[in-house]
Amino acid sequence: MYRVETPSTDQEFEQYFRFRWEMLRKPWNFPEGSEKDEYESVSEHRMIRNGKGELLAIGRMHLNASDEAQIRHIAVSPDAQGKGLGKMIVSALEQVARKQGVLRLVTNSREISIPFFSSCGFNIEREAPNDLGKLKRQQMVKRLTEMNAIMLHQDWCDELQRTWQDTIPISDQMGIKLYQYTGRTLEARASLNKNINIHGTMFAGSIFSLATLTGWGMIYLQLKQKGLMGDIVLGDGDIHYHKPITMQPRCLCNIESLDGKFDPLTKEKKACIKLQVDILDGDNPVAEFSGIYWVLPSRQDKLINE
Ligand SMILES: CC(C)(COP(=O)(O)OP(=O)(O)OC[C@H]1O[C@@H](n2cnc3c(N)ncnc32)[C@H](O)[C@@H]1OP(=O)(O)O)[C@@H](O)C(=O)NCCC(=O)NCCS
Repeated sequence: MYRVETPSTDQEFEQYFRFRWEMLRKPWNFPEGSEKDEYESVSEHRMIRNGKGELLAIGRMHLNASDEAQIRHIAVSPDAQGKGLGKMIVSALEQVARKQGVLRLVTNSREISIPFFSSCGFNIEREAPNDLGKLKRQQMVKRLTEMNAIMLHQDWCDELQRTWQDTIPISDQMGIKLYQYTGRTLEARASLNKNINIHGTMFAGSIFSLATLTGWGMIYLQLKQKGLMGDIVLGDGDIHYHKPITMQPRCLCNIESLDGKFDPLTKEKKACIKLQVDILDGDNPVAEFSGIYWVLPSRQDKLINE
């Protein structure tokens, strides 16, 4: 399992800059030292290492203005490319930018990495200044005002968010928000600040609530997808905590984890659905939740009789 880290020691920074030079400067015969600029001390740096401590991926972000941040120097070692590490680095830097209130994330991409940044949600805006004079670059921009995550069936997702707020008011106080729904994966996030305990980490009860609601939301959207109705209740929930949450609480439920049939609802009978929710802190898996939910046809009866 890969983990995004922040270099902190002199040795880690030495390794980080050497990797940046080897990946992004050496191939074009630029001397060592050319990989650094005047923003290093005020930038956010991130890296991913393998089990032997060797660097596999790096990236940097600095503020151009209070509402604009620039991503630079993303590199993944050739034999580790195509495994999602580049995207993990961009996503980690983007999370920092969002936390700092950034509205516009920019990058000056080489032609060759345009498809990569497009896949991370950036769009080409114009031709970019060419600082090293050799490689043509395009300025690509990702606006962070809206959540740019994919939201399939926006109307159902809005309804789900409203249902959480109206029927479970504490979910609002916990800052629980539906973050993305792709049709296969549902992701919900919560505010760490609103759920913090005396250790500065997320309260375990809040993690359980976020996971429960994520599974609940997945079933809610599956009912919509199938044109069914029902009252969803949690019958049994089991959670394993491995690590504390100190950054960004995220819960993901993938459709592959659902086990059970919705058909009994068509005969006015209750349906039993089991599912799994993965709990992450930023990009790091920290806990797993498994839940057994019952979907009761009673609400449907009530509506029909009303
Ligand atoms: C560009 C680079 C950072 C991408 O890193 P990576 O770890 O290989 O990319 P990922 O595996 O995270 O890919 C993320 C997405 O980008 C897409 N992608 C990456 N490189 C791509 C390419 N050359 N063509 C098309 N799509 C590409 C992937 O298909 C994937 O899409 P998906 O998530 O929709 O499936 C890496 O190839 C690299 O270091 N290149 C050399 C240095 C460089 O050009 N840095 C950018 C400086 S401007």
